[in-house]
Amino acid sequence: MPDSGPKQAPRGVVTDNLVSLQSFILEEEARYPGATGEFSWIISAVSLAAKIIAHKVRHVRLQEVLGEQGDVNVQGEEQLRMDVIANEVIMRVLGGRSSIAVLGSEEDEEPTILRRGRDGGKYCVLFDPLDGSSNLDTAVGVGTIFTILRNDPSIPGAVETVCQPGSKQVAAGYVLYGSSTIFVITTGRGVHMFELDASIGSFMLVKRDMRMPARKKVYSVNEANADGFPEPFRRYLSWAHANGYSSRYIGSMVADVHRTLVNGGVFLYPPTAKHPHGKLRLLYEANPMSFLVEQAGGTSVTADGRRTMDIVPRELHERVPLVMGSRDEVAAVLNA
Ligand code: AHG
Ligand code: MN
Ligand code: MN
Repeated sequence: MPDSGPKQAPRGVVTDNLVSLQSFILEEEARYPGATGEFSWIISAVSLAAKIIAHKVRHVRLQEVLGEQGDVNVQGEEQLRMDVIANEVIMRVLGGRSSIAVLGSEEDEEPTILRRGRDGGKYCVLFDPLDGSSNLDTAVGVGTIFTILRNDPSIPGAVETVCQPGSKQVAAGYVLYGSSTIFVITTGRGVHMFELDASIGSFMLVKRDMRMPARKKVYSVNEANADGFPEPFRRYLSWAHANGYSSRYIGSMVADVHRTLVNGGVFLYPPTAKHPHGKLRLLYEANPMSFLVEQAGGTSVTADGRRTMDIVPRELHERVPLVMGSRDEVAAVLNA
């Protein structure tokens, strides 16, 4: 009998390889000639930190780590004990990776220089260790946001080194500690989603190349602030009310943006009376999320319609008004 080539698997039999985050990143890195594996080491550190934080978050009452630390962070916000713990976990795990020159966190006033000059690594990592932490009290989803930037050893100051526009990000992602633990990442070649299988301790690929719908009649905003929004945002809300829109707002950016990535819609944090420049931080909240949203086919702009990732930051904790999500829904906000 002639050889008819490779046999088809019987219907319903899954033959795709199981892919862990680690093997996925190694595969990605192998595409670049001369890659040293340093980038993979950083992602493996982020993934380890995420597993430790996920464990803490899931036992926050039993381990008595709920509640206030008694300090105020650089944003003037109450620090919760879990904010401090998540920050320490990331600093410790990432601090040991020799390819990282600078680490910057929402919880620390200044970036931390780990290595300088000839010892300096190739990369800088900025992060929001625990986004939405005030939701921990009520067991609602919280997350970790991170971005990886290139280090330029010729720039002496750490702040100047990390003040790069979002368009220069090497990679960005978030971990959502929700009903399951989800890891979403982009290295500029699409957006990929992994889910933590706690029994084997690995993040496993569940969705390659996520694409967000171009439209979906859902907006996500803290509408209680609407009286203090600039007029165009109030016009948009009236228009949305008259046009059959639904509202969804969790109050954890990671959870709200994750839903927007998966289902479509628009997520906004406009200027408010209390936060005239918006509340969200450009470098470690807005930029990483914008990179993911754009890579999934969406749009991210500031209140004046400029592309978020084109803004040249001046300081580590700079805030920015934000509109991000499905292409047509962002356009509807800008056209209001
Ligand atoms: P963080 O917990 O890191 O300080 O961030 C909280 C942020 C963000 O997660 C969310 O989108 C926003 O605060 C919610 O703000 P409001 O409570 O003002 O709506
Ligand atoms: Mn945050
Ligand atoms: Mn935070």
